[in-house]
Amino acid sequence: MKAVILVGGQGTRLRPLTLGTPKPMVPLANRPFVSYVLEHLRNHGFTDIVFSMGYLPEGIKSYFGDGSAMGVDLTYVVEDFPLGTAGAVKNVEKHISDGDFLVLNGDILTDLDLTALLAFHKQKKATGTIALTPVEDPTAYGLVSIGADDEVLAFLEKPSWDQISTNLINAGTYVLKREVLDMIPPGVEHSFERGVFPKLVGKGLYGFRSDSYWMDIGTPEKYLQAHYDILEKNVNTSISDCLDRDFVCLENSVDLELGAKLVPPLIIGAGSVIKAGSRVGRMAIIGPGCTVSAGSIVEESIIQEGSVIGENAIVRKSIIARNVQLGKDSLVQGGAIVGEGARIGENNVLANHIRIYPGTQVKDGSIRF
Ligand code: GDD
Ligand code: MG
Repeated sequence: MKAVILVGGQGTRLRPLTLGTPKPMVPLANRPFVSYVLEHLRNHGFTDIVFSMGYLPEGIKSYFGDGSAMGVDLTYVVEDFPLGTAGAVKNVEKHISDGDFLVLNGDILTDLDLTALLAFHKQKKATGTIALTPVEDPTAYGLVSIGADDEVLAFLEKPSWDQISTNLINAGTYVLKREVLDMIPPGVEHSFERGVFPKLVGKGLYGFRSDSYWMDIGTPEKYLQAHYDILEKNVNTSISDCLDRDFVCLENSVDLELGAKLVPPLIIGAGSVIKAGSRVGRMAIIGPGCTVSAGSIVEESIIQEGSVIGENAIVRKSIIARNVQLGKDSLVQGGAIVGEGARIGENNVLANHIRIYPGTQVKDGSIRF
């Protein structure tokens, strides 16, 4: 059975991480995010996968190629302009054979039981089945009310607070009959959430409730939380094996100097140097080829590939993108994001969700945000 992964969005809420990198390629625990989606599909036997792309497609193609390294078979289709979620699937119609197929939003980290979803869909003889997950605030999602037999009664995208009648939302994974494609006009922008699903209500549309781990990584807060959840093994991924029983995952050739302190859970990428007198963790993910200098602290944070944390610098609850140089005695905290290649001089304070754009040069002692 074919699976279509939607990865055409621009990931605006994750900027500046998504300015030069499409959301599916933003690293999650040192691997492109969408590799977890591929791994999850493969683990449930879905190996025939179509990427529906728009924004910055080249990086995805060159990284995954034909998919053989991940044990899947990949096809890439690039849109000329954004066709919306349903338009994007209509656009890959010729790759979908008869019967049922799977559609996935490409920005979800989940260990949803896809095998059980498919069995449910077949048992109900459904036209479409939407995976549902409970959330505290449904206003950022598609609200789905279901009846006693799990048939969908209403689908309401981005509801306002006064419209909320349930905590179940569209989890961004669907099994659809091929006929559903006939409801979608070709070559124009069309949405499953606003166009197709509301029209399918009462015509064999079902909701499959799941309590599996589920996270849309589309905002910096959720992106950080997804890392914490991987580290705590709240979600089942192949990283759990590396984290082992002590919740410490050291990739190849990590240079851990005597006197460096590690506080689990944490992951340190290949070839990184952790200097004596520094502390990494708790909850830290250091990318490959990074340096964490003497006296510095990295906790509840992500440091991406090739970045250097200067002496006595502190990074807390923040994200440092690739190839950043953080000057000594600087403090980065409170949800700050430092974009790729930025050079932050000594003695700066970056906090309060500040976003430093890629390549920015910040002089010594110039920001006390
Ligand atoms: N190919 C293509 N073309 N993909 C697209 C397009 C497009 O025009 N627009 C969006 N996508 C992709 C995005 O890359 C993402 O993977 C997925 O479709 C969903 O788009 P988002 O922009 O992330 O939507 P959302 O998070 O606001 O809402 C959606 O996901 C929620 C779950 O996280 C909806 O499906 C909600 O109903 C759902 O609850
Ligand atoms: Mg999303």
